[in-house]
Amino acid sequence: MKIWILAAGVVLLTVGCAKPKTIFSEEPHVVGKSQVEIGAYLAEVGGCHDCHTPGWAQTPGNVPQDQLLAGSIIGFSGPWGTSYPANLRISVQASTAEEWAGMMKDRNGLPPMPWATVNHMSREDLMALHAYIASLGEGGNEVPIAVTDGSGPQTPYIWFMPEPPEVHPANQ
Ligand code: HEC
Repeated sequence: MKIWILAAGVVLLTVGCAKPKTIFSEEPHVVGKSQVEIGAYLAEVGGCHDCHTPGWAQTPGNVPQDQLLAGSIIGFSGPWGTSYPANLRISVQASTAEEWAGMMKDRNGLPPMPWATVNHMSREDLMALHAYIASLGEGGNEVPIAVTDGSGPQTPYIWFMPEPPEVHPANQ
């Protein structure tokens, strides 16, 4: 798989004096053979599987195709309540690549989804991610709705708050 990351400074040199909006003169993006291949690469190096694919970290990465990005029913709990990594195979079905890329650039949802990070992905890279996820087809089930009303989760959860060491089970 041949993939190059385009450093946008090169574009600036060739088109003249465009003013950088952020640290990049123009949105960088990954180049590859197809949108699906680029999206598969981005999902891996972007860490999407780590939360959205059950068992990804433990196997590592050897998860059957029908479970890729199918979401998790283990919640992440913290001051925001409890959130669940969505089933992305279901959620991409509802939108076109353009709509999905727009949502990913604007949305500021619950932790620990790295919203600030994906907000800064380029539109082209986001559209490639959409193409990859859509290519997996629908699969898996909806995850539970986030709990934000102060009540506790009804599923197993991972607690995301700093605790004193004596609270750790290994120290008791
Ligand atoms: C640290 C865990 C974590 C990582 C890493 C992560 N996510 Fe998430 N993601 C979540 C959680 C938790 C939610 C639910 C957040 C909420 O309710 O606002 C979520 C929600 C989403 C949603 C909203 C889906 C919907 O139907 O509302 C999308 C889309 C998404 N993630 C895509 C991605 C992509 C693409 C990547 C990789 C670039 C990624 N996520 C990486 C945990 C993660």
